[in-house]
Amino acid sequence: MAEPDQPSIARMIDFWLGGEHHYPVDVAAARAFEEAYAPCAVIFRALRAFLGRAVRSIADAGVDSFLVFGAGVPTRGNVHEVAPEATVLYTDVDPVTIRLGQRILAGSDRAGYGFGDATDIGTIDPAQLHRFVPGWGRRPVGVVFLGLAAFLDDETLARTLGELYEAVAPGSFLAVDFDAEELAAYPRALAMMGPMFRLRPPSAFGPLLGRWEPGADGIVPVARWRPDGEPADVPDAFFGAVATKPVA
Ligand SMILES: C[S@@+](CC[C@H](N)C(=O)[O-])C[C@H]1O[C@@H](n2cnc3c(N)ncnc32)[C@H](O)[C@@H]1O
Repeated sequence: MAEPDQPSIARMIDFWLGGEHHYPVDVAAARAFEEAYAPCAVIFRALRAFLGRAVRSIADAGVDSFLVFGAGVPTRGNVHEVAPEATVLYTDVDPVTIRLGQRILAGSDRAGYGFGDATDIGTIDPAQLHRFVPGWGRRPVGVVFLGLAAFLDDETLARTLGELYEAVAPGSFLAVDFDAEELAAYPRALAMMGPMFRLRPPSAFGPLLGRWEPGADGIVPVARWRPDGEPADVPDAFFGAVATKPVA
């Protein structure tokens, strides 16, 4: 793959997670971001650890296939690594990220990577969907929607989560996170995320989930969602939940 000349947030996250799938242009952008807001690495590690605990809990509930939106780089404790017995379809809208993901997963018969706009499920290749998420709409699945909500306005996010709720079978799960207002105190960092990047107060999160039910664990800072032992001591930048579409 030719070396990209533009940084990508997905590969910057890979850098912060200690991964191997980023380029000098991503490291430079990550370092510049850290000058405006230092604790990126610990925050994204806490978010990835939440993904791991959330996916494990969903797999332990008997779900054996996952659909991942805004997937970024599919390594460093990602879905097929924490639930190797499951099948996984990673999707993203960024062609460079998709090519990178396809290269990383080449040869896997349980995990694939393709185009998918989270705001329009119909953009996913049906053949890929049925191969990696068999019984879509008829069997319970795990939908992973992390690192994405901040890129969608309230109306689009609520509609998207509502359409996903309609599309999945009862008994399905949604792992989701929201950006809280931590970055508001760091305007230089916030400006680097672009004008469409949305921070939200925690009171906004519940209504955006619509009919998805977050259950007893609630919508909490990701480090506090069913922590393994003492929660990681990180700023409350991301809140997360594992919500369900209950069986009627
Ligand atoms: C901040 S990264 C998060 C990556 C990964 N989910 C994580 O948590 O580390 C956001 C990703 O969402 C993708 N993205 C942005 N808008 C999207 C959309 N409408 N549908 C699907 N992916 C989208 C971007 O290309 C990027 O790879």
